[in-house]
Formats: sequence, C-alpha cells, structure tokens
Amino acid sequence: TQIKLFCPATIANLSCGFDVLGLCLDNAGDEMIVRKVDQKGVRITKIVGADLPLETEKNVSGVAALAMLETLDTEFGFEIEIYKNIKAGSGIGSSAASSAGAVFGINELLGRPYSRKDLVQFAMQGEKLASGNAHADNVAPALLGGFTLVRSYAPLDIIRIDSPEELFATVVHPQIELKTSDARSVLKQTVSLKSAIMQWGNVGGLIAGLYTKDYDLIGRSLHDEIVEPLRSVLIPGFDLIKQTALENGALGSGISGSGPSIFALSRGKETADKIAKAMSEVYEKMNLPYEIHVSKIN
Ligand code: HSE
Repeated sequence: TQIKLFCPATIANLSCGFDVLGLCLDNAGDEMIVRKVDQKGVRITKIVGADLPLETEKNVSGVAALAMLETLDTEFGFEIEIYKNIKAGSGIGSSAASSAGAVFGINELLGRPYSRKDLVQFAMQGEKLASGNAHADNVAPALLGGFTLVRSYAPLDIIRIDSPEELFATVVHPQIELKTSDARSVLKQTVSLKSAIMQWGNVGGLIAGLYTKDYDLIGRSLHDEIVEPLRSVLIPGFDLIKQTALENGALGSGISGSGPSIFALSRGKETADKIAKAMSEVYEKMNLPYEIHVSKIN
C-alpha cells in the first residue's frame, strides 16, 4: 500500500507573527510517495529535484517519520520518495513540506492514529534538523491548511484561524538561497517594550481582521517591527518590491518565512496577478533571476 501526496508550500511569520503565524498555499508544493513495507524503519528511496541526503537521520522527512514511529509499536516500515519543487532556502517552507508530508502519509497508511494537530510535534523535528530550531509556523499550516497560530510551544497549542474567501498571496523568490539558520543568526534576543507593544497589537489586529473579514484591518496589521528590519537587508530589492506591492493594491507585504521570498496578500486574484506583474518588472529591471507564484490560500 502506498499514498501519493501534495506537500504544500507555506508562508510563515506573516510580518508580525514571527514563529507563530503561517498560511498554506494551494498551488505551490512538492509531491511525495509514502509506501508501507515489511522491513521495519524508514528509508528515503528517491529524491528528485533537489540535492538532499538520502540517509534517514540526515533527511527532514526521515527524522520527522522516525520521531512519529518512536511513539508507535508498528510491525512494518516505510519508504519515502520525494519530488521537490520548492527550493531549499527559498522561504516558503521547503523543509516543512517534506517533514509534514512524511508524517501525514504515514499517519494515513496507519489508519490515522493521530490527528493532524498531533502530527505537528513530529514534523517539527524535521524543522529542528533543518534550521536548528523546532519552529512550527510552517509545518502547522502545511498539515492543517489555511491560517494557523502557534499560541504556545510548551505545551504545544495550535489553532486554525478562519480567513476570508478572497485572500490571495503573491510570492516572489529572488533566486538566492538564504538559510533559515543564517537568517535567525541576525536576530536580537531581546526586544524593546515599545516594539513588543506594536507587535502584539498587530498580531491581535491580524487575527481579528481574518475572523471578521475586515481587509483593511488585515492590511493595517501586516507590519513587523522586530524581525523585518534586521532581515530585509539580506534580501535584494526588498524595499522596492514591498513598495511596489503596496502601490499595486496589496493589503500588506513582507518577508516570507526567513526569506529571501517576499509575499504580498491581496483581496482577489486580479490584484494578486497585477502585483505579480509589477514585482516581476522590478526584478527584471534589476536583472535578477526570480520565480513568482500567485496562489489562493488553501
Ligand atoms: N519562523 C521561522 C523563521 C520560519 O522566520 O525563522 C522559517 O521558515
């Protein structure tokens, strides 16, 4: 028995929600085949589209799968084939897609011993291998869909957030690789009370805006006082791309995950497409290779 999966790309942080907010894209992602086999353990048998380790303990899918299987008494094992479309270090949850896919697939083949929320803790182990930090803001939306909030890490408390129908994301990836671990190393370990007040005001505003379908409130809340100023300098053309998105009707724009991808949220596909065109023109003028996606939020 085997299962073929779509493993979605995700946008973490969403400006004000560093390490706690994320959303799931509906048309960007990897594919994976998970197969139940007699031989115990987990083996990565094939990786297409990326140069990633096949050794189970060095592969995020393998590590997430092992974390899950440690909690279960199974008489068989699993093989995983990974077909990568999401580039590593792109900022749209490449490692999360693989970690989440592995545990989701195994859970399905086992008759769902765990809920999707339960699976987050195992997928986080893949994130820990990838970046040194077991953050859940990509794996949670990859597993649950839509918008998610990690209210707390200890104990783990994940909440799926309602969101309006017409929200679209435009995501542009300037073709450089930015390692999450490097993008984390530029952060400060303390924040000022003034910045913290602005940040939690915006997180509350964003959640309220999503629930009440108040697009203006969503837009006003998509602001990051703490992380974006430190990370944006690592991303070519960041200020211009963000400004272009806002001038073309985006509700808000910021760094996708740890970058270098930049996202913009907008109401309706037409605006999202217009933003994509305008962003493309910016990178074309700069002579910078890029990839761009417009996606509904899934
Ligand atoms: N919240 C994480 C970070 C997401 O920004 O470092 C990484 O994809």
